[in-house]
Amino acid sequence: MSEDISIPLIHQGLKTSVIGRSIRYYEHLASTMEAAKNESRLVFPEGTVIIAGIQEKGRGRLQREWRTPAGNIALSIVLSPVIGNLPYLIMMSSLSVCRSISMVTGLEAGIKWPNDVLIGGKKVCGILIENELKQDGTASAVVGIGINVGLQPVRYDDIAVTATSLEYELGTPVSRNDIVRELLNHFDRLYTSGKNDCIFVDWQGKLVTLGQPVTATWKDRSVEGIAESVDETGTLVLRLPDGSTTQVVAGDVTLRKTPG
Ligand code: BTN
Repeated sequence: MSEDISIPLIHQGLKTSVIGRSIRYYEHLASTMEAAKNESRLVFPEGTVIIAGIQEKGRGRLQREWRTPAGNIALSIVLSPVIGNLPYLIMMSSLSVCRSISMVTGLEAGIKWPNDVLIGGKKVCGILIENELKQDGTASAVVGIGINVGLQPVRYDDIAVTATSLEYELGTPVSRNDIVRELLNHFDRLYTSGKNDCIFVDWQGKLVTLGQPVTATWKDRSVEGIAESVDETGTLVLRLPDGSTTQVVAGDVTLRKTPG
């Protein structure tokens, strides 16, 4: 198993101005999302990072469960973005994850729309973002990131063929402290850059979904088409079999295998 999470080790080489101003580690939590929300309004300033060793009730997108056994990374970042930056949080987080993975392990990761991080077509990281718009026109957001580092996918029937982990891919231990530090460094650089147009272009370039036949599911709808493009707000444009297009603002896509 990879080394224990160590706040002093994460701080060594941390070059952030906002993200990671305060880093809190808990061995057990129900969910870092809950911990960030329950207390953030009272205590936690922007940039606070909450990390859990094990989550008992990790939350995924679309009311799914997220597994966090020992040896993975589960963290939430408390943010107070301007409302116009909310759509870019998805892009910043998935890009930061890809970059930290590449820097620490040399593995090439891609993004499945909107923000799953994949290695070799299998999910290595999930991201959950919960926003709240305030009456004064500002927003608060919690960005939750779960990275499979030590997970052995074959131990879990339901994700055995769809998930992977960094150590499973590499066959050697991976330092969670190095991944967290680089993730926070990259996230901070993007969050404070003010260059949303560049962030969009880089995110788009990492999307493995574009050009692929997909099934998109949102609300109670499910449609098949080709994932044609994305716009600056992160909306996915699907080309349907009849030649028309439809926009998917939030939801999930499954990459479909074409026959042959
Ligand atoms: C998904 O792919 O469905 C999103 C998974 C998000 C998991 C992370 S782990 C840290 C944070 N705490 C949670 O309970 N969920 C997010």
